[in-house]
Amino acid sequence: MYISQQTVNQIFEVAKIEEVVSDFVTLRRSGVIFKGLCPFHNEKTPSFTVSPSLNIYKCFGCSEGGNSVNFLMKLKKFTYPEALTYLANKYHIPVIEEELTDEQKIKASQTESLLIVNQFAAEYFNKNLQNTEEGKLYGLSYFKERGFTDEIINEFQLGYCLAKKNDFTEAAIKAGHNLDFLKTVGLTIGNDYGNIDRFYGRVMFPIFGQSGKIQGFGGRILTNEKTVAKYLNSPDSEVYNKSKILYGLFQAKPEIRKQDKCFLVEGYTDVLSLYQSEIKNVVASSGTSLTVEQTKLIHSVTHNVTLLYDGDAAGIKASNRGMDILLEEGLDVKIVLFPDNDDPDSFVRKYGGRATLDYINNHEQDIIEFKSNFFQQETKNDISKKSEFISETARSIALIKTELKRELYAQRCSEIFNIRVSSIQEEIDKYLQEKDTENQKKLIVQQQKSVPKVENYSKVIQNSISSILYASEKEMIKTLLLFGEEIMQNDKTISNYIFSNLKNDDLTLKNPLFDKILKLVENKINNGLALDALSFTNNQDPEISEFSAEIFYEKDKLSALWKKRGHAIIPEVDLARENLKDLFKRYKICIISEQKEKLLKDLSISEEENNLEKLQQLLENIKMIDSIIKKLKE
Ligand code: CTP
Ligand code: MN
Repeated sequence: MYISQQTVNQIFEVAKIEEVVSDFVTLRRSGVIFKGLCPFHNEKTPSFTVSPSLNIYKCFGCSEGGNSVNFLMKLKKFTYPEALTYLANKYHIPVIEEELTDEQKIKASQTESLLIVNQFAAEYFNKNLQNTEEGKLYGLSYFKERGFTDEIINEFQLGYCLAKKNDFTEAAIKAGHNLDFLKTVGLTIGNDYGNIDRFYGRVMFPIFGQSGKIQGFGGRILTNEKTVAKYLNSPDSEVYNKSKILYGLFQAKPEIRKQDKCFLVEGYTDVLSLYQSEIKNVVASSGTSLTVEQTKLIHSVTHNVTLLYDGDAAGIKASNRGMDILLEEGLDVKIVLFPDNDDPDSFVRKYGGRATLDYINNHEQDIIEFKSNFFQQETKNDISKKSEFISETARSIALIKTELKRELYAQRCSEIFNIRVSSIQEEIDKYLQEKDTENQKKLIVQQQKSVPKVENYSKVIQNSISSILYASEKEMIKTLLLFGEEIMQNDKTISNYIFSNLKNDDLTLKNPLFDKILKLVENKINNGLALDALSFTNNQDPEISEFSAEIFYEKDKLSALWKKRGHAIIPEVDLARENLKDLFKRYKICIISEQKEKLLKDLSISEEENNLEKLQQLLENIKMIDSIIKKLKE
């Protein structure tokens, strides 16, 4: 089955880029556009913009751009139909499907099937928990003992995998699921004794991805015995990557956005207990220490993170590590340690949500407080340890990206450790310099890599010819899209000028995308349609949308600029007119040079073969080409 054109049209009509993007990126209005931190590259100041009028996004840092579908395909690694389905769900558009051709059936994505297997498993485990004797007796009573309510069990789709070692696998196969898929997502493990369930006899925590699909599972044993791993997790697969996922984020996101703050805890049960006590802006990096990808996930929703960790040595160590990664990502980081071997789960169960929030508010420490407190406990003012500690703190401060903040932290550090600011600043500068040198080294290595090796002279010429061809075609299409309806000379429009110039010399554009756009424009003009920006930026072909996003965005920026300076129209059109004549000259020279290159190659072959007749012919052709080039260059 595939999505009908009618549904696709409807989706493209209603999907609003600012609404789609803001599910993943915090946007702030800035004039007629929105700005935010780019989800496609690492940045501290927003260069990612969204234009509601063009219905596109565009990043000026990494130059990603396009419409809602492109955005989802890039960010979520969705296929085209997956992106459409996501949008249909978001906007409550009924999806009308049509029968797939055989070829389309074969292509039906494997990812989809894996997610379907996971969905089946979550439902199956949840039914076990609620409806089977064993599930109720062991699983449900375990969760109840831990204080989880029916609502939380439903919202997080908690479940139970029966103790019989292949119960789930058998049920899944009976329901028509493919054994290979079951193994790929890790729900089934094949061994010498056959195929068994990874999670048998465990309570199940499904792990939701950003669009609410189940990517993987965590499973906990029901006892506190130390000989078996307490938690098992899904192995990494096409649909599950533990370092790129945060437990609870799907459910917590609206609240994180609302509070503009995210609590980061260590475990599944910490998330659940806080969430059900109305502290809903909470996520966990389950089963791994915090990764850069996870901090980016948080950063796409808020700038403020508070770590809620156990006050034991392991917790402190984890906080130290997590803190540095978050600081480096440019987040504002605070830490709360819980007392007496409590983790957030046990604390909130003992004292309730209100008291837990109070505790958090009263015990939030910034990095300096945290490090100095730790220092006091650790060292009892041992001088050499103290200097080590200050240096360690300075290293963390050096990770902070803005100078002002670094300075404020340096001052705090000076007060707390009772040492001159300048000494701390010196230490910070040392680390900053180290980082600078590192970056510089990286840059040099990169530059060395980008210098082309001249192995083959004619290959270099060929490359430069094709890059000039590409650039000329791009310029041509850009001019066509932006100024196609303007007058070139007399009553000939710019688009007419371009079309006739190409036709007269029987030229077709080499780049397939540019050719596609050219034909689209030609079609519109022949049908008397206007070249409106939106019809390109919001085009159903993702390639066309992406390319025109770049073009029209630039124009929007330019018009704004010129308007500010008091011009009614963009003087760029005059420039474009001027350039166009030159552009065609260059383009034609390039095409002919390309032919000359071919002839030269043939020439050297004929020389080797000593084919005099052919040699003569080739030389004549080359002479002719040279004279054409000369004429064009005049
Ligand atoms: N974890 C894991 N594998 C283990 C132990 C822990 O993946 N063998 C992960 C789990 O995501 C767990 C988190 O690390 O939630 C924190 O571990 P821990 O503090 O030991 O567990 P709690 O969340 O406190 O679990 P519980 O309260 O159920 O004992
Ligand atoms: Mn716990």
